Amino acid sequence: MNQDEAKRLAAVAALAELPEEGIVGLGSGSTAKLFIDEVGALVRAGRKIVGVPTSEGSRKQAESLGIPLLPDVGPWAIDVTVDGADEVSDALDLIKGGGAAHTREKIVNYASKRNVIVVDASKLSKRLGESWPLPLEILRFAQHNTEKTLGKYGQPRQRMKNDGSGPVLSDAGNLIVDLVCDPIADPAALDHALRQIPGVVETGLFVQRADLVLVAGEDGVRRLTR
Ligand code: A5P
Repeated sequence: MNQDEAKRLAAVAALAELPEEGIVGLGSGSTAKLFIDEVGALVRAGRKIVGVPTSEGSRKQAESLGIPLLPDVGPWAIDVTVDGADEVSDALDLIKGGGAAHTREKIVNYASKRNVIVVDASKLSKRLGESWPLPLEILRFAQHNTEKTLGKYGQPRQRMKNDGSGPVLSDAGNLIVDLVCDPIADPAALDHALRQIPGVVETGLFVQRADLVLVAGEDGVRRLTR
């Protein structure tokens, strides 16, 4: 099974976690995209699901599939959100933000009664930071001051577009910095420390925010719960 097949398997498995009708948070990234396709098929078949997108990309996809969406301003009472992750630790903490959407993803995660994470087995690590840098969303104002302070915790690398045409921006127009650090011993403490730095909008650390992780691999789909 290749990685794309595993992602699809996890995305399809998440359908069993949806309410018969209700409000569903729509994650971002390639695995969540496969999930949103499946939600579109359910809506076309008459299922009463209303979405809350976690990025402009997910919004456009959901709109193109005819999934009704709630307004951005909220307040929402989301039944379940299904989202991907870049890294999942043994403790089921997450690094997210590979697609620069982690701020909105975290807001939607916190507004959800339940959070289901869909990944292929390559995303599993013993500790966060073993295989993925930590994405941060920061303000452009005083960018270099913020980066200097971040240097206490790792090596900050501003994320640039692959074609070299400029910096990657979040949907809110902020910069993304990837913090290259050692494996993270205490994700909650690091998250707290980073969020105290003026100019840091949000971190990609999701500490104890996954109720269920669906991991797809050669042995099918495993269910990991806290
Ligand atoms: C978006 O910013 C991220 O948090 C994604 O959810 C994460 O990068 C996982 O993406 P893939 O499913 O594409 O690996």
